[in-house]
This record gives sequence, C-alpha cells and structure tokens, in this order.
Amino acid sequence: MQGCKWIVVAVALAMAGGAQAAGDAAAGQQKSAPCQACHSTDGNSAVGMYPKIAGQHASYTERQLKALRDGQRKDPVMSPMAANLSDQDIADLAAYFASQKVTLGSVPEDAVAAGALVYRAGNAKTGVPACMACHSPDGKGNGPAGWPALGGQHPEYIAKQLGLYASGERSTDINGIMRDIAARLSKAEVDAVSHYVSGLH
Ligand code: HEC
Ligand code: HEC
Repeated sequence: MQGCKWIVVAVALAMAGGAQAAGDAAAGQQKSAPCQACHSTDGNSAVGMYPKIAGQHASYTERQLKALRDGQRKDPVMSPMAANLSDQDIADLAAYFASQKVTLGSVPEDAVAAGALVYRAGNAKTGVPACMACHSPDGKGNGPAGWPALGGQHPEYIAKQLGLYASGERSTDINGIMRDIAARLSKAEVDAVSHYVSGLH
C-alpha cells in the first residue's frame, strides 16, 4: 500500500501549508481602495514601475505582502502600504486580485526571438535554465509550487526585479533560486526576456 502512504504525506503537507487564513475576494475588493492609485482598480497598473497584480496566484501575492510588511522585502513606495495589513487583510486582498484578469502588453519586434530564446531555452553556456520550466510555457506560473505568473507584467518592473535579485537586494526567493539565475543573465538577455513576458499568454 505504498500509494496510500504518499497520499497521507501529501494531505499532511497540504494541511501544514493551509495554516494561512482563507481569503475572501469580496472583502478584498472592499479593502483594495488604498491600492488603486498605483495598481488600478483591477490590479492592472498603468505604470511600468508599479507591478500588475491582477490574476497573480493568491499564495504568491500573500507571501510577498507579508515579506513587504515584515521587512524581508523592502521598497520605499510599497513597504509603507503593507505595514498595517493584518494576515486576514492580506489573504482577502490576494484573493481579490487573483480573481481579476491580467491584461497583456505589446512586445517590440526585436525582443520576440531573443526573448523567446531565453524564456524557452535558457542559456546553456552561462547556466541559465529555461524560465518556462517554472513560470510555465504560457507565463502563468504555478501557484502551489510558489512560481509566480509573469505573463502581461510590465517590462520595467521585470527588469528591475531581475536587477534586485542579481544584486541580492531582493531575497524572498527560497534557496536563492532567482538570485542565482538573475546573476547569470546579461543585460541584453534581461531586456529581451522582460519585454517578451509582457505579451506572453
Ligand atoms: C504608491 C503606490 C503604491 C500603492 C498605493 C500600493 N502599491 Fe503595491 N507596489 C508598489 C510598487 C512600486 C511595487 C514594486 C516594489 C518593488 O519594486 O519591489 C509594489 C509591489 C506590490 C506587490 C508585489 C508584486 C509582485 O509581483 O511581487 C504586491 C502584491 C502589491 N504591491 C500589492 C499592493 C496592495 C495589496 C496595495 C494596497 C493595500 C498596494 N500594493 C498599494 C506601489 C504601490
Ligand atoms: C527553478 C524555478 C525557476 C526558474 C527556472 C525561473 N524562475 Fe523566476 N521565480 C521563481 C520563483 C520561485 C520566484 C518567486 C521568488 C520570490 O518569492 O521572490 C520567481 C520570481 C521571478 C520574478 C519576480 C516576479 C515578481 O512578480 O516580482 C521574475 C521577474 C522572474 N522570476 C523571472 C524569471 C526569468 C526571466 C527566468 C528565466 C531566465 C526565471 N525567472 C526562471 C522560480 C523560477
């Protein structure tokens, strides 16, 4: 009965992960007024340095908001916005924005082939893995695995985060997975892949 044993382990892990408060999207919408100035009503911000948070996996949004609130992730604009959120507020906000649909950007012609190469194949010479191995071929990521959606995201924000991982300033990535990858990317690769994902779906 080897199979049964694994089911028990999987259920135990799911319960351990389920210690988070359950989010209520309707309550999250009520609480989202202070977010709108930067992220827009539905989470599709109009400004490149303000990330789109529409359609993002609730588990990822929750973890980032807690990191921003508790100081593990720092940003002079966003940290104060998270400072007074309770765990329940965070769960509700994450559920609300996850229920929205991300809008796509347009990809400049010259970023299509170069960006696709990095995203779909990586770079064997420099040890860059294919982004799609985790962020998925359509850019939707994987919520339970903790891999955020990237499709539709602003290129300016993507490039900034890759820079913050490369320098180690952003360290929310478990086992340094993104710090290691970002440090191996050339500037041209960062430019190309950042633009490429903004149209990915
Ligand atoms: C004054 C502008 C501003 C307001 C208001 C604001 N944010 Fe942000 N938010 C930002 C910026 C800028 C970043 C990117 C920080 C960085 O570069 O690391 C960010 C990042 C985030 C992220 C991380 C996204 C990711 O992909 O990792 C989440 C989640 C988020 N904000 C949610 C919220 C919520 C929820 C609210 C309302 C309670 C809110 N924000 C209010 C500017 C704002
Ligand atoms: C082995 C899995 C894996 C691979 C491969 C991978 N990523 Fe990630 N990526 C992650 C995880 C996990 C996170 C969330 C880390 C965190 O919480 O800070 C992440 C986060 C990101 C973020 C931040 C998203 C946000 O909303 O702030 C960007 C940008 C990103 N990855 C780009 C890339 C690019 C570009 C590649 C390919 C060159 C890539 N990733 C390859 C696992 C991966």
